[in-house]
Amino acid sequence: MSIKTEDRIFRLDNKYFSYILYADKQNILRHLYYGNPLNDFEVDDLTYIARDWSNTYYNANEEKEHIYEDNYNSMASHVEVASDGNNDKKGSTICIHQKDGSFYTDFRYESYRIYQGAPKSDVLPYIHSKDCESIEFTLRDILSHAKMLLTFTIHEDSPVITRSTELFNDSDDSIDLNRIMSLTLDLSNTELDLFNFHGDWALERFVERTKVPHGTTVISSRYGRSSHVENPFCILATPNSNENYGECYGFNLLWSGNFRFEVTKGRYQDIRVNYGIEDTNFSYLLKPNESIELPQAIFSYSSNGLNHLSQSFHDFIRNHIVPEGCFGKYRPIIFNSWEGCFMDFTTDSIINYMNSAKEIGAELFVLDDGWFGHRNDDTSSLGDWYVNTKKIDLKKVIDHCHNIGMKFGLWFEPEMINADSDLYKAHPEYVLGHRMSEMCLGRHQFVLDTANDNAVTDVVKQVNSILDTYDIDYVKWDNNREVSDNFSQYLNRDRQESVDYLMTLGTYRMYREIVESHPSIFFEGCASGGGKFDLGVLRYFPQIWCSDETDPVQRLYIQYGTGYGYPLSTISSHVSKCPVTSYQSKSNIAFFGTYGYEFNPTKLTDSEKEELKENASRYHRIHQDVILEGDMYRLSSPFDSNYFCEFSVSKNKDKALLLFANILKEGNYYRFVKLPGLDPDKMYINSYDNKVRSGNYYANVGMNFIRWLNEFDTILVEFEEVKE
Ligand code: DGJ
Repeated sequence: MSIKTEDRIFRLDNKYFSYILYADKQNILRHLYYGNPLNDFEVDDLTYIARDWSNTYYNANEEKEHIYEDNYNSMASHVEVASDGNNDKKGSTICIHQKDGSFYTDFRYESYRIYQGAPKSDVLPYIHSKDCESIEFTLRDILSHAKMLLTFTIHEDSPVITRSTELFNDSDDSIDLNRIMSLTLDLSNTELDLFNFHGDWALERFVERTKVPHGTTVISSRYGRSSHVENPFCILATPNSNENYGECYGFNLLWSGNFRFEVTKGRYQDIRVNYGIEDTNFSYLLKPNESIELPQAIFSYSSNGLNHLSQSFHDFIRNHIVPEGCFGKYRPIIFNSWEGCFMDFTTDSIINYMNSAKEIGAELFVLDDGWFGHRNDDTSSLGDWYVNTKKIDLKKVIDHCHNIGMKFGLWFEPEMINADSDLYKAHPEYVLGHRMSEMCLGRHQFVLDTANDNAVTDVVKQVNSILDTYDIDYVKWDNNREVSDNFSQYLNRDRQESVDYLMTLGTYRMYREIVESHPSIFFEGCASGGGKFDLGVLRYFPQIWCSDETDPVQRLYIQYGTGYGYPLSTISSHVSKCPVTSYQSKSNIAFFGTYGYEFNPTKLTDSEKEELKENASRYHRIHQDVILEGDMYRLSSPFDSNYFCEFSVSKNKDKALLLFANILKEGNYYRFVKLPGLDPDKMYINSYDNKVRSGNYYANVGMNFIRWLNEFDTILVEFEEVKE
C-alpha cells in the first residue's frame, strides 16, 4: 500500500487499484484516474478535453481573458470537489448560501498531509483500523473562507477506499451550508448500469439493475433512517458485467439517516456520483469556530465482476466496520420469542419455551417485545423501560435460562415513545413534531426526538439501568417507524433545518452510551425487520434482523439482495413457523445468514426436532468458518432464474457450503452449477454424492443436480478437504 506525491500529483495505490488526484496550477483538486493499478501516465493525457468553450476565464481586476492551465475546462473537467456557481452543472459536492445571497461556492486546494491511521470522530461512526494510511487535503472556499478537510484512507489488503469530510468555519461570520456530499466521483465510463436495492417492509433489498440514463438519477431516503425503501448500498457496473466479469464500483455510507446517492450522466456522456446526506430540506448554520463532520463514504472498484466487489465489502465490513473483536467470535444459535407468542406470555410460558428451545440446540434465548411498562399490545409503554412485574418475573426467567445453559437476550426500542407512557406524560416535549391537532403516528407511536439531549440522557439511563440490574447477554435494538413531523421542540430556529442530521447524531450517542458501557453484551439491530440495514448501525451492532418476512421463499430474495453489500455474518435469519416448506428447507435457507429460530418450540413434532438438531450440529461444524467468515459467491439469482444458488468457502479453503434452492417445479432438468473459490489443487469430498473431486473439477465441471425437484426443495452440500 502506498500514498505518494510528486509534482502535486497524489497517487493512492495498492495491488487492487490506483486512485490519482492532481492539484492543478489553479489549485483545483482534479480527479485523474480510478481503476486497475496504473503504471505510467501523463497529466496531459488524463486531463485532455477537446472542447474549448469553457477553457478560459476573465480576470475582472486585470480586465483580461486567460486560458485555464492544465487543460482545465469549467464545464467538463473531472474534479474531487465540485463547486456551485461555475459552469460545472453535474451536481456539486458542496453548496453554501453566501453572505451576499449568492450560491457561489468554489473550494481550492491549499495543502496536504499524509499519515498512518484513519480519521476518528466523537460524534459519528467511523472505520476502525490500525494498518492503513491516509492523505488529508485542505481546501478553502474563495468567498466564505470555509475550510474543508478531505481525507482518503487506504489499506494494503483491501480494494475499499474511505473518504472522510469535515468542514470548519474559522472565520468571524456564520456560514449557511445548504449541501455537502461525502463523495464526488467522476468516472471515465460512459455507459454504466445502476444497481439499487429497493423494497418495502418485508420485501427489503430487491435487486434492480437499470441503465444509467442521461440526466440525474437519485436513490435516496427521506424517511429519517436508511429505510426499507432504498438502501445506501449502490453499484455501478459496465453493461456487460456479471458476477465474474466486468468493471464495477460499489458505494456505501457510514450513516443511518436520510441519504442521497445521485448519479448524473452529463452532456459529454461522462458519469458523476455524488453521495452523502440528503440535501432536500437540509441546511446547517456553521457558527464561527464550529465544524461539521460528514459520514464517511466507502467505495470500491473491481474489474472482476460483482462477486469480487461484494467480497471486498464483506471483508471490509467484517474487519473495519463491525465492532472490534466481534468478527471471529462464536455466535450462539438464537431462539427469539416473537413469532411464537408475540406479547402474549407469562413467566411460566417463557420458561416452557426455553426448555423446548434448548432441546433443538438453541444457545441464546431472546425475550422480545412486551416485557416492560404495561405493554400487552403495540399501543403503549415505549419510553417506560422498566419491567412489568405483574406480567413477568424477569430475574426468574433469566436465572432459569442461565441454569439450563443458555444465554439470555432482551428486546428494546429506545428511539420511540408512546403517548400512553409515563415518559410522554412527564415530557411531551421529547416527541418529534409540532404539538398540534394532527401528528402522524406509525404503529401507534411517536418518534423520540433524539436531537434532544435530555431525551437521549433519560432513555439511556433507563436502558442502562435494566442492563446493569439484570444479567443480560444480548440486546435486540428495534426501531419500528419512520421519521415524520420533522420539527424538534428542543432545537432553536437556526438548527431546525439540520434536524435529521442532529437526530441521527443523537441516536449514535444513544448507541455509544449503551453499547460502550456494556462491552460484554452482544447487540443486534432491527427496524421493523430490515428498515435500518446500514453501516452506521453495523458499526455498533454486528448483525441486523434482515426482515420481518420469515417465509423462507421470500427470504431467498431478501437475503440474496442483502448479500450484495453486506456479509452473511450481518444478516440475521431465523427458521420460522411459516408452513410453505419443510423445516429442513427453512433451516437450510436460514443457515445462509446468522441462523436462529422463531416459532412456538413446544409445538414441534419429533421429526421436526430431529431435522433441526441435525442443522444445529452442522452449525457447530461449519457455520463459523464458512458462513460467518468465508468468501461468498452468488451462483444463480432467484430474480433472473428459477434457482437461488450461493456458495461460501472458508478463508483457508478447507471447507465450503452450497445452497441450491429450487423455486418452481422443473422436472428432471440438467442443473449444472460450477463452484469457484476452492483450491484447484486440493481434493474435496462433497456430501451430495460423497465423491472426492479436485477444486479444479468443481470449478470447471461443478455439480449437476439432475433430479426431480419439487417447489421450494433445497439442497445443501458440504465440501470438505480430503488430506492424503
Ligand atoms: C419488529 C421486529 O422486526 C420484530 O422482529 C419484533 O421484534 C417486533 N418489532 C416487536 O415489536
